Amino acid sequence: MRVIVVASHKGGSGKTTLSAHLAVAAERAGAGPVVLLDIDPRGALIDWWESRPDHVPAFARSSAERLTNDLELLRRKGYRLAIVDTPPAASETISPVIGQAELVIVPTRGLSIPNVPGGAFWDPEADLAFLQSLTLDLRKDIPVITIEANINDQVFSDRVADEFLAMIAENRSQP
Ligand SMILES: Nc1ncnc2c1ncn2[C@@H]1O[C@H](COP(=O)(O)OP(=O)(O)OP(=O)(O)O)[C@@H](O)[C@H]1O
Ligand SMILES: [Mg+2]
Repeated sequence: MRVIVVASHKGGSGKTTLSAHLAVAAERAGAGPVVLLDIDPRGALIDWWESRPDHVPAFARSSAERLTNDLELLRRKGYRLAIVDTPPAASETISPVIGQAELVIVPTRGLSIPNVPGGAFWDPEADLAFLQSLTLDLRKDIPVITIEANINDQVFSDRVADEFLAMIAENRSQP
């Protein structure tokens, strides 16, 4: 079972929206059965899921503490892809899950609109330090792809979408 964790320290950055869309898109693309997991104690996804006419992708509430066990249970139940929506602070307890990422894609020309070259928060030294610490903290076999783009550039989102589609295509061919 592949696991995708949608995490960001920043509140309101679109984690829940992205998680729900990814789960539905992956199921429609044939990468299922997909399960969407909510480990945010505020539980925003349940209302959305209950209002859907069908219950595919599946949905489960979990918590940072129970996540590893719950993922194992879901793996045994036959789910092939789990998408995990997280609360706005990536806590210490979920960092081991993030540490098992399969691929990290970093835009080297800034992570926000004010962070573009020449923008108010353009700080290439801080961005480089972030990239170095990310690379050092990750398992050595996890590839880090750097793209000469800002996070809002089309070239960046196209690459992220391509990598995601390649990932779920591999998933489709797995037993
Ligand atoms: N790509 C997008 N374009 C426009 N609006 C968006 C987009 N993604 C999310 N939103 C809107 O932004 C708001 C916050 O989104 P969402 O709840 O997904 O963020 P979040 O990161 O899960 O927030 P929290 O940190 O509080 O859990 C919502 O009103 C959502 O509809
Ligand atoms: Mg959320």
